[in-house]
Amino acid sequence: MFDPRDPAFLADPYPEFARLRAQAPVHRHDGLGLAIAVSHAAASAVLRHRGLGRIWTDASPAEQFVSFNLLHRNSLLENEPPVHTRLRRSISSAFGRGHVERLRPTVMKLADDLVAKLAAAGSGDLLEALAQPLPVAVISELLDVPEADRPRLVPWSNAIVKMYEYGLPEEGRVAAERAATEFVEFLRELAGRRRREPGEDLITDLLNAELTEDEVVATAVLLLMAGHEATVNVIGNGVWALLRHPDQWQRLVDDPELMPTAVEELIRFDAPLQLFERTATEDVEIAGFRVAKGEKIAALLGAAARDPEVFADPDTLDVGRTEGTHLGFGAGIHYCIGAPLARIEIAAALAALTTRLPGLRLVAEPERRPEFVIRGLKNLPVTV
Ligand code: HEM
Repeated sequence: MFDPRDPAFLADPYPEFARLRAQAPVHRHDGLGLAIAVSHAAASAVLRHRGLGRIWTDASPAEQFVSFNLLHRNSLLENEPPVHTRLRRSISSAFGRGHVERLRPTVMKLADDLVAKLAAAGSGDLLEALAQPLPVAVISELLDVPEADRPRLVPWSNAIVKMYEYGLPEEGRVAAERAATEFVEFLRELAGRRRREPGEDLITDLLNAELTEDEVVATAVLLLMAGHEATVNVIGNGVWALLRHPDQWQRLVDDPELMPTAVEELIRFDAPLQLFERTATEDVEIAGFRVAKGEKIAALLGAAARDPEVFADPDTLDVGRTEGTHLGFGAGIHYCIGAPLARIEIAAALAALTTRLPGLRLVAEPERRPEFVIRGLKNLPVTV
């Protein structure tokens, strides 16, 4: 069974997933301490089964993780109905397709400005120049985070999400709690200001909904984190995949009509989020595998995305692919609320790159970040 910290596995986990999928749709992973669903059907069933929930258990020792636990205990992603329903409703209209569609011109302009700067520089790191700043700017706009505070968001978020990986060393755990404490303090302050001077932003909306103060803070932090952690890696992993498949890059340059299928294909081809856990609230069976009440099972989205039962030639990148529905945004009640916005951001980034920089190419092999759950690159050195 794979070791999620093994650099050789991380470099290309897909052959190992294919091997596992050929044996059985669900396996026991002793190292991770849970079952893993590796076929598309089994992963989908895990995400949709109502006997499997996101049941939060505090990180321990509790006195060490006060802020980290506060953020997660009050998060819609870590709750089931009725709390989940109430929290999700407080933000659902803001992220509806119609609402975010109105942001498209602003997002396109932001992407185009960033790509113009990269074009003027002649070469650079695509993550730093575009993939990172674009989603951070968009989500910061929606919550109206003051310009001067925005550079603090990414380091906080990056430190917190390291806790979702397996086998994080103690210094990483300490850094995560420190980041959570600063993030909570920052949001309490910002929410206090918005309470005194309401604006036309999402924090003001949250204050007007029936949420406790901790829920307002946790929801705002979740949005600021979820709003960029995955998108940055779809753009990074996706552009890297396109530059390694110049025929597919050229197809997109020649035919911008392919953009909608290209966006879905890039999310499928190298999933930025590889694994999501669930806990059984009753005895459950997934593809014949029994999960006893209290035990955990995870949906391996990266494995599901390469299932030949759903995607023809799953290891082939095809920006015109129309068959199959990937699970990259999840499924069931926790389905990604930011999906319509993420699609606009990825399309805007690709549109700006293919129009302004059709000759874009790699300068060197990128370095990979050593994490499994959130899959992405450290850098992507490109030249125009
Ligand atoms: C391509 C980028 C993105 C990907 C691949 C992605 C993926 C996902 C997935 C797989 C889930 C479900 C987790 C689970 O079932 O346990 C999820 C949930 C969520 N995502 Fe995203 N996401 C992306 C972008 C965004 C953006 C831009 C936002 C916000 C602006 C966002 C906000 C959320 C929220 C709030 C949830 C929790 C929903 C709930 O629990 O009901 N995501 N996302």
